[in-house]
Amino acid sequence: MTTIFSGIKPTGHLTLGNYLGAVRQWVAATGAGAPEETLYCVVDLHALTVEHDPARVRRLSRQAATLLLAAGLDPEMCTLFLQSHVSEHTRLHYLLECTASDGELRRMIQYKEKAAKAEAAGQGVRLSLLTYPVLMAADILAYRADEVPVGEDQRQHVELARDLAVRFNQRYGPTFTVPRATLPAVAARVMDLQDPTSKMGKSHDVTTGIVYLLDEPDVVTRKVMRAVTDNLGGVAYDRATRPGAANLLDVLAACTGGDPVELAAGYDGYGALKRDVAEAVVETLRPVRERHAELAADPAAVEKVLRAGAERARSLARPVVDRAYEAIGLLAP
Ligand code: TYM
Repeated sequence: MTTIFSGIKPTGHLTLGNYLGAVRQWVAATGAGAPEETLYCVVDLHALTVEHDPARVRRLSRQAATLLLAAGLDPEMCTLFLQSHVSEHTRLHYLLECTASDGELRRMIQYKEKAAKAEAAGQGVRLSLLTYPVLMAADILAYRADEVPVGEDQRQHVELARDLAVRFNQRYGPTFTVPRATLPAVAARVMDLQDPTSKMGKSHDVTTGIVYLLDEPDVVTRKVMRAVTDNLGGVAYDRATRPGAANLLDVLAACTGGDPVELAAGYDGYGALKRDVAEAVVETLRPVRERHAELAADPAAVEKVLRAGAERARSLARPVVDRAYEAIGLLAP
């Protein structure tokens, strides 16, 4: 049986990038008849690695879980839970810290970017920001996950999880499954509409280039219509010279199931392309927004799902983590 695990960090409102790059794949993997064990986690501990407001993290954790259900995750078909509710993640984190090296963590692209940002803002760099990918590896390895559906930006972190699994298994005996990242065919890296050379990220300060899952249709339309493109004439798919147009075509392809290069051939100007992208995004997000409004009205039901999810996650992770404790040389209590 294939086990699938993935997670999302409650550091901001979920974006179109999160949805097209990751969440849609998660929903697809839980379709009727799928034999997989699927686990999805709101990784709240990861939200503490940068300056945070406790009340906001609480609010965003609840909202992320509600949005995942609204996006179509069926709690009967998968396990949805909060990372902090399952202590096996932090138990395993320590053993993996004793497996990883300082050098390999300092090479992580996201660490370098986020540490630079924290320093520029005059904030200290939290130690947990450096060890973050080790906790992420623990998230994955605790369930012996085979596949980790993520967007492009998480590929390097999943590679680290692979390296740590292989190293641990070699030193202490077979314990973990070596996971692999699975990326969507298109929209693995949705770019910011105002700055199409950087990723659409939920914790960016400037929000005019970010489409949030809960944006009203007129807001989505305005953001798409104002997207930065180029003045090279015509429409063509070329990520290097026309990053803004390529991004719009990727988004359109992801929303309509087409191919970005073929779609480009159907347009001779950006006005019509933007109108179609706006409509496709609005229609893609409409059911998610509507379902979110229903689910948000009953927070107790969402909490019930999360409690049951944590219980099941614990029962899966505990034997794996216990086995790792023993393998590394610790006596059973
Ligand atoms: P996070 O919360 O930044 O993003 C959640 C998922 O959304 C994807 N994603 C994107 N995909 C395409 N285009 C974008 N612009 C875009 N922005 C985000 C991410 O690749 C991710 O799949 N470290 C992880 C959370 C995590 C995790 C894990 C993931 C913690 N433990 C274990 C998988 C397995 C993160 O910060 O994702």
